Amino acid sequence: MSVRIMGTGSALPKKCVSNEELAQLVDTSDEWIRERTGIGSRHISTGETVVSLAAEACCKALENAGRKGEEVALLLVATCTPEDALPCAACQVQDRIGAAKAVAYDLNAACAGFLFAVHTAWAYLEAGIYDNALIAGAEVLSKIVDWNDRGTCILFGDGAGAVYLERCEEARGGILSFVQHSDGGRGAVLSCAGREQENPYFHGEHRHPYVQMDGREVFSFAVRQVPEAVREALAKAGREVKDVDLFVLHQANRRIIEGIAKRLSADMERFPMNLERVGNTSSAAVPLLLDELNRQGRLRQGMTLVLSGFGAGLTYGACVLQW
Ligand code: ACO
Repeated sequence: MSVRIMGTGSALPKKCVSNEELAQLVDTSDEWIRERTGIGSRHISTGETVVSLAAEACCKALENAGRKGEEVALLLVATCTPEDALPCAACQVQDRIGAAKAVAYDLNAACAGFLFAVHTAWAYLEAGIYDNALIAGAEVLSKIVDWNDRGTCILFGDGAGAVYLERCEEARGGILSFVQHSDGGRGAVLSCAGREQENPYFHGEHRHPYVQMDGREVFSFAVRQVPEAVREALAKAGREVKDVDLFVLHQANRRIIEGIAKRLSADMERFPMNLERVGNTSSAAVPLLLDELNRQGRLRQGMTLVLSGFGAGLTYGACVLQW
């Protein structure tokens, strides 16, 4: 028995915003953004929502797998930017894609959310509780970014990616191992306040409802912890860095990915990137890139892939799979 990714899909808002356009909003330049982050443009919602983007990505993943909405048993949406507190985004996606029989709920582990959701689904499938799962990572980060803060607004983009997983009889291949970690003691490194506590009996203090980030701390967290998590997942799968064909990492920024590659002593050719075109899309980043690679025909049967997500929480993890 194995659990395999049978289909992938993704969706991006129509509007693409270049670094030059951002330089008209805040004091920055194409040169600064490219040099520090590797980002050249990002897609920004002009009405697209977490639900609409996730639903589009989910439909494409199902189509890619040759499956229909009504066959889906488990539907998870990883997001930290849902439109509504209630109902959850996954239940709204369920309605849009006709997955009437699915159990649907959201999961928030920021940029590691998609990976944590795949791990959750894998556990259900391994335990024999469900036969298949549809998992989306979807974000509209543009609504929680402070568009006056040049330190953060240049980094993020909106989008969604999805995978469809199935339990197969074949014993070999599929998902081989997982590791995930959380470090709540370092939550202040990257945060965004929710709604204020306000009721007839209590008025909470004003909290900043936009992304706040200590960029240097995020950088050192990522380049230290991610290689460790990758090595841990590889050891669990009985593989080594040299066995990996592609490292599909969270697309935070180019310098972080280069730092991780260096610590793993792995050549950059094995680290595909799309952040130049889409920026950092948090939980959508890994499935968006995976879908691009799949549709470009760059994922061949038998290839060993490492997926890794890391972000606010702090949360991070890695997965080893055979395509
Ligand atoms: N354009 C021009 N100048 C800028 C910009 C900008 N967009 N942003 C900041 N600056 C200025 C600062 O004001 C500062 O100026 P000062 O020296 O006069 O005060 C100078 O550039 C250096 O600022 P730093 O914040 O120290 O810049 P740093 O070299 O650390 O680069 C960056 C910032 C790119 C965010 C870096 O810290 C980094 O890569 N961190 C990782 C964070 C990250 O990728 N987060 C993504 C979200 S988290 C996740 O997905 C896991």
